[in-house]
Amino acid sequence: MSEISIIYKISIIAFTLYFRASGSGCPVLECWFVQEKPGHGGGFSVPMSQEKSLMFIRTEAYSEEIMSDLHPPADISPSRVYYVTDPAGTFCSAALNPPKGSVNKPKCEINPFMPHGMVRWTSALTDSAQSPVYLQADWFSVAAQGLDEQLTLSNIMRAPSASKEPKVILSVSSKTALVRSRLGEPVLLDCGFWVDPSSPVHGSGFSVEWRYQFRGEGRLVLAYDGKNDRFAETSETGADIDITGLYETGNASLILEESQVRHSGTYICTVYLPHLLAQVAVDLEIVEPPSLSIYPSPLPLLVPGQLLLIQCEASGFAPHTLDLGWEFTGADGKSRSLGQGGVTGHRQASDGTFSQSSRLELDSGKMRLGRGGDITCVAKHAGGTRRATATLSVIGVSAPSIEDSMAMVAVALLLYGMIKFLYWTFSSSDSSDTELKNKKEK
Ligand SMILES: *[C@@H]1O[C@H](CO)[C@@H](O)[C@H](O)[C@H]1NC(C)=O
Repeated sequence: MSEISIIYKISIIAFTLYFRASGSGCPVLECWFVQEKPGHGGGFSVPMSQEKSLMFIRTEAYSEEIMSDLHPPADISPSRVYYVTDPAGTFCSAALNPPKGSVNKPKCEINPFMPHGMVRWTSALTDSAQSPVYLQADWFSVAAQGLDEQLTLSNIMRAPSASKEPKVILSVSSKTALVRSRLGEPVLLDCGFWVDPSSPVHGSGFSVEWRYQFRGEGRLVLAYDGKNDRFAETSETGADIDITGLYETGNASLILEESQVRHSGTYICTVYLPHLLAQVAVDLEIVEPPSLSIYPSPLPLLVPGQLLLIQCEASGFAPHTLDLGWEFTGADGKSRSLGQGGVTGHRQASDGTFSQSSRLELDSGKMRLGRGGDITCVAKHAGGTRRATATLSVIGVSAPSIEDSMAMVAVALLLYGMIKFLYWTFSSSDSSDTELKNKKEK
């Protein structure tokens, strides 16, 4: 009897802990509700209205009791408060749920969504069993961006007309809103999707499309039509998705075999269901630091009064922003800047990487180079700082070194000795002559 009551108590505790845990991960999201201002007949620039809105999010359905416990702040119109059921917990990521009182908040926008026909090549999706009654509801699309680019999310939600209780039907998300890659490496652009299994749109086919966009230019990278199990023809090579993962876990990640400079840009992952679509954008940056060389190599000896023109060539880098400069490290081990030198414009190689160089005129006197030292070319780049060093020797410098002084002393001593010796020899021969004369005279 007591055992049963203990098991009963434990299960109640476990149950409440489970509910706390499952409830705690889901945020209360503040969003902007953005829609076209009513009463405008379209045109190029449709005025938009923006209202504060709030989404309570749970993985289970709401009961009257739970809803009466939730108190939205007074500055948000009750008509813009939503009680969202998110069975897969797509909103319940830490990236969308920062600790209370944090300055940075996730970005979130809700728009009314109109279920529609598909783009032409996926039109085959819509001829399946349709559910017009199902479509007659309030549809919303939510775009949310987590902190630190950890998550970007696009959800389509459906609420029975005027109910304020939407349910997530389609969710497309990426955990890599920004990807940086070195040149030549394989790249994974994350994209995943989830469809509510209880929805009529589930199981009637899906399509996935990856598009590339850069400075207004766009192209189709990859498109997979799940209904007919075929890929659309594209000119892109070396881009793939894992079909098994796509069906088993909704993993629509794009794999680029070998990153190139031309891959830099924005990639849009779009998932199409009959009448619905959602998309997320992933930015790819190919970042490759420069290789440096100093010319001439090795540096010739520098004679004071002469100028020596040296050049640092930075090549193979991307993106093109680079900061070139020169440093000198003397015999005392101290480094100082010699300035930027004369920096040339960029040149672009066929692989898309850039090169740039800097010329510097070395003047031993003006630059206080002493007897020489290390000349370093410093290149600061988004991919890291690179350095190249060459040794510079300055010859015949006026300021004598210790060895020079000692040599001079030695030479001076030698000269002194020679003079002394000569003087002694001559003077002694003179004296012997006179001695002889004296002897003769005697
Ligand atoms: C999605 O697929 C890619 C490629 O197969 C894989 O590297 C990645 O880990 C998968 N992502 C998830 C969340 O399973």
